[in-house]
Amino acid sequence: MSKITIAIDGFSSTGKSTVAKQIAKELGYVYVDSGAMYRAITFYAMQNGFIDNNHFNIDGLVSKLQNVRVSFKFNEALGFAEVYLGNVNIEKEIRTLEVSSFVSKVATISEVRELLVQQQQKLGQNTGVVMDGRDIGTVVFPNAELKIFMTASAETRAKRRYDELIERGDKVVYEDVLRNVQERDYMDSNRKDSPLIKADDAIEIDNSNLTLQEQFEKVLQLVKITLEDCE
Ligand code: CDP
Ligand code: CDP
Repeated sequence: MSKITIAIDGFSSTGKSTVAKQIAKELGYVYVDSGAMYRAITFYAMQNGFIDNNHFNIDGLVSKLQNVRVSFKFNEALGFAEVYLGNVNIEKEIRTLEVSSFVSKVATISEVRELLVQQQQKLGQNTGVVMDGRDIGTVVFPNAELKIFMTASAETRAKRRYDELIERGDKVVYEDVLRNVQERDYMDSNRKDSPLIKADDAIEIDNSNLTLQEQFEKVLQLVKITLEDCE
C-alpha cells in the first residue's frame, strides 16, 4: 500500500499532537511535532540571552541560527520521538508556559521558518508521515493527501493545557494559560509569513465536545478513506 502524508494544523491544545501520535502508531508512520522545533529555537534564544525580560534580540538570534541543531530521537518507552538541542534532551523544558509566552514571536521570524520548513520537508521525504503544526497543509506539505484542521473553543483548550501543566507540577494559574492561548491564536493567525489558516482542501474538525477516542476514530476514518482513494 502506498504511503501518504497527513498534515494536521490548528490552534493550540486542540489535540493535534495526541491524535497525530495515535495515527502514526496505527499506520507505522513517522510522527513529527513541528511546534517542538519552534519551541526548541525559542528555548535556545532564552538560554543564550537573545530573549531577556521581554527584550528580544532578533538579529542576534538570526545570526546564530545556523549553529542551532534541533533533532528528534525516538524513545521506545514513550513510543514517540523527543526533541534535542545538540545532544541535550529538552522535551520537558520546551513545554513550560514561559517558552509558550515567547514562541509565537520567534515563529514570526522568516529566517527561523525557512530553516525549520526545510528540515520538516526532509523529515517527511520518502516516508509516510503525520506532521502537526500551523502551516503544514499550507506551506510545508501543500500536496499532502490528507489535511485536517482542528479547532475547539479557547476556554476548552486553555482548560486542557492548564490541567496538563498542573499534572507536570508547573505552578500556573488558569487565567494566564487562557491569555497565552488567546495571544498565540492571535499572533499565529495574523503574522505575515505563513499565518495559521485552514487550507482550502483541509477538513475541519471541532473537537470541543469530542473525547480523545472519538477524535481518534474520526481521523482514522478519514485516513482510511484517503488511503482507499490513493490505491
Ligand atoms: O502544543 P501547542 O499547540 O500549544 O503549540 P505547538 O504546536 O507546540 O506550537 C508552538 C508555537 O509554535 C505555535 O503557537 C506557533 O507560534 C509556532 N508554530 C508555527 O508557527 N508553525 C508550526 N508549524 C508549528 C508551530
Ligand atoms: O497538540 P495540541 O497542542 O493541539 O494538543 P495536545 O497536546 O494533543 O492536547 C492538549 C491536551 O488536551 C492533552 O492533554 C489532551 O489529552 C487534551 N485533549 C482532550 O482532553 N480531548 C481532546 N479531544 C483533545 C485533547
